[in-house]
Amino acid sequence: REMFAKAVKVGYAIPAFNFNNMEQLQAIVSGASENKSPVILQVSTGSRENAHPILLRFMAQGAVEYAKSLGWENPQIVLHLDHGDSFETCKSCIDSGFSSVMIDGSHLPYEENIALTRKVVDYAHQFDVTVEGELGVLAGVEDEVVAEHHTYTQPEEVVDFATRTGCDSLAISIGTSHGANKFTPEQCTRDANGMLVPPPLRFDILEAIEKELPGFPIVLHGASSVPQEEVATINKYGGTLKDAIGIPEEQLRRAAKSAVCKINIDSDSRLAMTAAVREVFATKPAEFDPRKYMGPARENAKKLYKHKIEEVLGSAGKA
Ligand code: G3H
Ligand code: 13P
Ligand code: ZN
Repeated sequence: REMFAKAVKVGYAIPAFNFNNMEQLQAIVSGASENKSPVILQVSTGSRENAHPILLRFMAQGAVEYAKSLGWENPQIVLHLDHGDSFETCKSCIDSGFSSVMIDGSHLPYEENIALTRKVVDYAHQFDVTVEGELGVLAGVEDEVVAEHHTYTQPEEVVDFATRTGCDSLAISIGTSHGANKFTPEQCTRDANGMLVPPPLRFDILEAIEKELPGFPIVLHGASSVPQEEVATINKYGGTLKDAIGIPEEQLRRAAKSAVCKINIDSDSRLAMTAAVREVFATKPAEFDPRKYMGPARENAKKLYKHKIEEVLGSAGKA
């Protein structure tokens, strides 16, 4: 809560990076540590299943100790459940020591979203765990549900939702979406070089939400910018990513200065790691030691995390 309050007041956003494995965790923690940036380690339901909940919990605890060993005296590292799909998942995470959970009821009818979010909040707050709710639906794949179009958050609903649920932060829909194909070419224009230019985020909706809920922590999901150099490397070495396009960093910089205090990034790290792994496989085909390709993947991901912290979200030096 204090982390969010400071981020809203000072005008930066805390990076929320998804992690699935050791190299990603090392890259996030060392990148944040070198920058003294608060950081949210978030795990999706799928990631929890993939790694195993017990292992993940101890990895996150290990992350704090690792940060200290890197010379970060008081690491501001939060373990957060991303897109919690049920009360039971959230409860299980709260019981196992998460400091924050998201309950994603955005696909439910409004009143059901409120009831579910309220139930999670009532449980979580007994343990001082913060809860992120979501209002509005992002286009694309979310919780294995595919929405063809955005349903933008309606500013006239946010006060009612925040008040009745008691949530600590609110994820909104203003034009971002999950994955590496955030817009179809038809939704974009082209610049002089023929590159796709996506439509801008709906800052008008964000401003209207800020007016309704002054100072309330807002969260942006689906905020990867899909670096074209990583896409090019992947495709150069055998990948087939087509029309991959993300949110321009300029727009994220603008969002970070507003009430948006948590920005979720997953796909960019997947791209950075995959680009590095593909390059090793293609240029050193005799290599078969996983450390020799996961090491470069870790380095490339770390470069990306540091860039986001230093150049986009403005969170360097804030912890
Ligand atoms: O919001 C979705 C995140 O990118 C997590 O994705 O469910 O494939 O782990 P995942
Ligand atoms: P991206 O797919 O844009 O990285 O979004 C990640 C996200 O919102 C995780 O919750
Ligand atoms: Zn998300």
